[in-house]
Amino acid sequence: MPAFNLHINGSLKTVDTEPDTPLLYVLRDDLGLNGPKFGCGLSQCGACMVLLDGRATTSCMISVSSIGETKITTLEGLADSNGKLHAVQDAFVQEQAAQCGYCLNGMVMAAVDLLSKNPQPDEAAIKEALRFNLCRCGTHTRIIKAVKRAANTL
Ligand code: FES
Ligand code: FES
Repeated sequence: MPAFNLHINGSLKTVDTEPDTPLLYVLRDDLGLNGPKFGCGLSQCGACMVLLDGRATTSCMISVSSIGETKITTLEGLADSNGKLHAVQDAFVQEQAAQCGYCLNGMVMAAVDLLSKNPQPDEAAIKEALRFNLCRCGTHTRIIKAVKRAANTL
């Protein structure tokens, strides 16, 4: 199988896999990065989001061979080297924004992307940015409060 070099969370990782393997599978199965979740597998729920060069992107339908030099950040890569949570992660904890927690990886990634471009989003902007992320538990109100809290601490 061919080898692919991937820039992930500040490190270079090499994986041997088929070229059409979805990035999500490589992250979870080969590299043990289980922050990104498998939800729909169809790029429709947002559970598998990662940051690709800072942009929140679903990873379930992107082939590993298409990544190239793109810098990948997963949920595990948001905390600093001492384990201190990113402000968005901390805000989700503070606001108790999880029920089952399955959507949270994608919600956090979408929020990090949003705040990097718009540090003080209003509620409409938050809803717009998170519109591709589905939460079946219905914790949207707390999630929006968490994003607002993060915006005030970043
Ligand atoms: S698992 Fe990728 S968008 Fe649903
Ligand atoms: S907290 Fe369960 S899917 Fe959102």
